[in-house]
Amino acid sequence: MPKLTIAIDGPAGSGKSSVARLVAQLLGYLYLDSGAMYRALALKALQESIAIEDQEQLVKLAKNTHIELQSPTAEQERSGAKNRVFLDGWEVTQAIRTAEVAQAASRLATVGPVREVLVAEQQRAGAGGGVVMEGRDIGTVVFPKAELKIFLEAAPQVRAERRWKEHQEKGDKIALAEVVIEVQERDLRDRERKVSPLVRAGDAVLVDNTAMDIEETARLVVMLARERDRELAKTLSEARGDA
Ligand code: CDP
Ligand code: CDP
Repeated sequence: MPKLTIAIDGPAGSGKSSVARLVAQLLGYLYLDSGAMYRALALKALQESIAIEDQEQLVKLAKNTHIELQSPTAEQERSGAKNRVFLDGWEVTQAIRTAEVAQAASRLATVGPVREVLVAEQQRAGAGGGVVMEGRDIGTVVFPKAELKIFLEAAPQVRAERRWKEHQEKGDKIALAEVVIEVQERDLRDRERKVSPLVRAGDAVLVDNTAMDIEETARLVVMLARERDRELAKTLSEARGDA
């Protein structure tokens, strides 16, 4: 099967990372978490006390920052990590997963010129195809020509509960009500921002996985990928005039 580009977008806690990672494993593709890049840059801005309102400084920061995504070790995978994240050579895989960093990432993600720097890096990273990239604007901006686009959804309460459970498992003392608000706030900001808002691309398949587990959802995406691949092969063969 030729290597497709698969874009998975959706709100927080909809299952993008878990599903994208499993789809990539099943197809032997590269998995890339674009949100981790926004989170890593937000962590650096917090560490350097750069105000999220200071757009000029943020753009400078984005241009002078090296973010790398790698496959996790078996142990990291067991504890839930899907990509290892390196910020200027330092591993920040765990450090970027706090509610504070998530909020800062979504505020920083409203700055158009910052997005331009990260989008260019995402396009470079996925240029070869055979990639499952997930985020908010993958099907609309990063890879508008992706052969398969999925818009992943789940009920807001279920998404917040999923995220809260993750915090519980890590021992973070955070109330469910607080996580509900954090996820709501971020969703609203992501959907309403002027630049590259979270919207379903016209040609994206809507998958609501409120009542589906990760494996079921990933198998559905793999099935859609195989279907898409057959369609592409047929179009190609017709164009060549094959019998
Ligand atoms: O990347 P995103 O924020 O969209 O979601 P995720 O990090 O993949 O998933 C959030 C949590 O929900 C993880 O702990 C997943 O294991 C869990 N999940 C689930 O229980 N059922 C699903 N169908 C999808 C995710
Ligand atoms: O895992 P979760 O869905 O909670 O968030 P994430 O994918 O790690 O992304 C963190 C934040 O980065 C999001 O709330 C968005 O504001 C931003 N983001 C974005 O704007 N565009 C992307 N392609 C990915 C993330």
